[in-house]
Amino acid sequence: MIVEITAAMQRAIELARQSANPSPNPRVGCVLISPDGDVVGEGWHDGPDRPHAEVVAITEAGQRAAGATAVVTLEPCNHTGRTGPCVQALVDAGVGRVIYGQSDPNPEAAGGAGQLRAAGIQTEGGLMAAEARDLNYTWSFAMEHGRPWVRWKTAATLDGRVAAVDGSSRWITGEEAREDVHLLRAEADAVMVGTGTLFSDDPELTCRLPEVQRQPLRVVVGQRAVPAKARIRLAEPMSAFVHVPNRQPEYALAELRRRGVHSVLLEGGPTLARAFLKAGLVDSITWYCAPLLLGAGREVVPSLGIASLAAAMRFKVSQLRQVGDDVRIDMEPDPGLDGS
Ligand SMILES: NC(=O)c1ccc[n+]([C@@H]2O[C@H](COP(=O)([O-])OP(=O)(O)OC[C@H]3O[C@@H](n4cnc5c(N)ncnc54)[C@H](OP(=O)(O)O)[C@@H]3O)[C@@H](O)[C@H]2O)c1
Repeated sequence: MIVEITAAMQRAIELARQSANPSPNPRVGCVLISPDGDVVGEGWHDGPDRPHAEVVAITEAGQRAAGATAVVTLEPCNHTGRTGPCVQALVDAGVGRVIYGQSDPNPEAAGGAGQLRAAGIQTEGGLMAAEARDLNYTWSFAMEHGRPWVRWKTAATLDGRVAAVDGSSRWITGEEAREDVHLLRAEADAVMVGTGTLFSDDPELTCRLPEVQRQPLRVVVGQRAVPAKARIRLAEPMSAFVHVPNRQPEYALAELRRRGVHSVLLEGGPTLARAFLKAGLVDSITWYCAPLLLGAGREVVPSLGIASLAAAMRFKVSQLRQVGDDVRIDMEPDPGLDGS
């Protein structure tokens, strides 16, 4: 069967999606095509300590990798980490040509294309680069910005309250919305609250979807100590818990980045939300709006020091849908809107 290069890239993207979340590594897919146009090997990367997509495809192809064209979603790595560099594996297998999608934004692993060319392998990048980047949106963001991507999730009433006057906040939204939050946790590398939420709600912050194997890192930010019996500390796996005893959002994100975190689900209360918003460190908002009114109670975010509409923080809605009895609104900051 003769396989077109673009179709092979589409297949490589499909393969990369087989991995739910190989964090802290990116999703990568690879297809090897023989000089006759036959697919001789396929592979995807399934996470740390697992072979890279190129190596899986080369292993499947065996001798038939010699002279083949490797179609890979991400520029082959030039880095020896837990596994050896893919560039060397491609050279050793005698691959004749490499076509990749996204250039590697990881400064530690970049330069693979140059190394392949230096080894005499015809190498071209940029094929379906946007689709390839979308496979690893938050990983790419973290590599490019040097900090994790942050999604602020909140559940608020119609009048923007996250807790009633007596402090009760369970539950503002319905069961379906709360289950939806577990999907957000499954996608995130880390879930973060402040000590205020810790002391008022004693949350566990685990992802409780039965099919999910990998738990996000549970993070508490704030100067107060986390009690030994806090559920967030005792939940399984106990190793997936960290307390950052600091109030600086930048510091907390740098600490998480150091631990290989690329995406954070900010589930804290109004204090933490305000700090991240003011620092310009909210990249996306997922707002569950519940059809109820309180008229008083904790505001979703306390004063941001904004006095006029012209100075409002503005967001662009990217998705809107009903979840049970609540409405989920996804938004991204829109610095382009000036309200005029
Ligand atoms: N509906 C929802 O979606 C939702 C979500 C979360 C919470 N809540 C509700 O919100 C309430 C808790 O709100 P909260 O604002 O106290 O919780 P929070 O934002 O999670 O935690 C606030 C605490 O974090 C620490 N902190 C960390 N960074 C800070 C900074 N930059 N500036 C100031 N303090 C910082 C401070 O404690 P230290 O003194 O320890 O430093 C502060 O008291 C509860 O009623 C909870 O149920 C609702």
